Amino acid sequence: MVKSQEELVNFSKQYGFIFQGSEIYGGLANTWDYGPLGSRLKNAVKDAWRKRFIEERLNAYELDADILMHPKVWEASGHVGSFSDPLVDCKHCKTRHRADNLVDDFNPDAHADGMTQEELMTYIRENNVPCPKCGKSDFTDIRQFNLMFQTYRGVTNDSKNVVYLRPENAQGEYVNFLNVQRAMRCKLPFSIGQIGKAFRNEITPGNFTFRTIEFEQMEYQTFCKNGEDEELYNFFKEYGKKFFVDLGLPEEKLRYHDHEKLAHYAKQACDIEYLFNFGWGEINGTHNRTDFDLTRHTEYSGTSMSYLDPETNEKFIPYIIESTYGLDRTVLALLDNAYTNETLENGEERLVLKLKPFLAPYKVAVLPLIKKVHGEKAMEIANELSKHFMVTYDETANIGKRYRREDAIGTPWCLTVDDETLNNGTVTLRDRDTMQQITLKLDEVKDYIKDRLEFN
Ligand code: GAP
Repeated sequence: MVKSQEELVNFSKQYGFIFQGSEIYGGLANTWDYGPLGSRLKNAVKDAWRKRFIEERLNAYELDADILMHPKVWEASGHVGSFSDPLVDCKHCKTRHRADNLVDDFNPDAHADGMTQEELMTYIRENNVPCPKCGKSDFTDIRQFNLMFQTYRGVTNDSKNVVYLRPENAQGEYVNFLNVQRAMRCKLPFSIGQIGKAFRNEITPGNFTFRTIEFEQMEYQTFCKNGEDEELYNFFKEYGKKFFVDLGLPEEKLRYHDHEKLAHYAKQACDIEYLFNFGWGEINGTHNRTDFDLTRHTEYSGTSMSYLDPETNEKFIPYIIESTYGLDRTVLALLDNAYTNETLENGEERLVLKLKPFLAPYKVAVLPLIKKVHGEKAMEIANELSKHFMVTYDETANIGKRYRREDAIGTPWCLTVDDETLNNGTVTLRDRDTMQQITLKLDEVKDYIKDRLEFN
């Protein structure tokens, strides 16, 4: 189990999963760079999502929309007007806080997410909610702070040239609703999914990659008739939870959190939360966005976003059920859950990253028992296997130390090349979790591993 977030941050850096962004310049707050192993893990989660949400579902299509969109998109979506956090400054130590977080941290049963701005302020003042940094309770009034990053296109920095870095993927899917529907000849219900970066000017401390200013979402929008929306909403709540369980997150560390206060676009909203080492945190959201988005885009663009039902000849604006997954938070949850300190029978400690094999950055480590004697054959095997899956090769240190390193980065199998390999063409394959070894013929290894890499 991870004892503290600091332990996970240090582990991630030491083994090449995640590094602090711009570290040599002292870092840039709330930014992180994925290292060689972190990128592999992230890509494996993307592949799993793509399989579950695009490939295994009929009427589901992937999109890769631009990050920069017409600024009117964000007026239509409501983000220009109301995508903001309620901020207060501590008058004593000048630290800036989100008012709802102050209340939540002070008393999780107060349900800050259901409070208006006035109610938050009253609660803070009446209960003397303290500043987490200096302990005083003396705050400014709440000010709304828009989370969208703004930049300019072209050569002049005036308001006519403002563009925003998208704060969510979803709008790319909505503005392309007609394009996809026509090009793919879709009938309702159908879904458009997209994996991509989103940006939010988050000012509050981030808990490692949990809250960052640049992050990746895997968003999924299902367009349907009014009346089919509630069934689909419930379906995706469950589908989402199953996805996380299939990735390896234990059911008892997942829970639903139904929203009391709804975003400006939603009729129903529910998060899936995971129990991180620092407490429960949202990793997914399912939203019933009704016909809000397509109606607004119709109004703001002048293009009708309606659908003509070929069976009933009815024309209407579809409802949207959104199921959105934070990729960075999913990776963080997977690392948090997989990180395991074990005491072995002989009293030795070992660190094991118990990721499911399809998620592990390397699938097998090829280890020559003695570099000088077995190195050449081992390299030949590694080269051959690397045509099928990610392989690492290690000839340094003693075999025990090499096993420990592979355990720590989650490599499911270690393949040892020894005299038996040279004389009889067999190798031993050690299982990361059980540490049991089996003997296989060389030509059986590829299929043995491949058969165990499926995400089902
Ligand atoms: N399109 C709807 C939408 O963006 P959201 O609940 O604001 O909804 C969706 O975000 C998911 O994106 C969240 O469940 C979370 O996993 C992830 N997410 C949101 N803000 C984030 C941030 N600042 N850093 C990392 N992940 C974030």
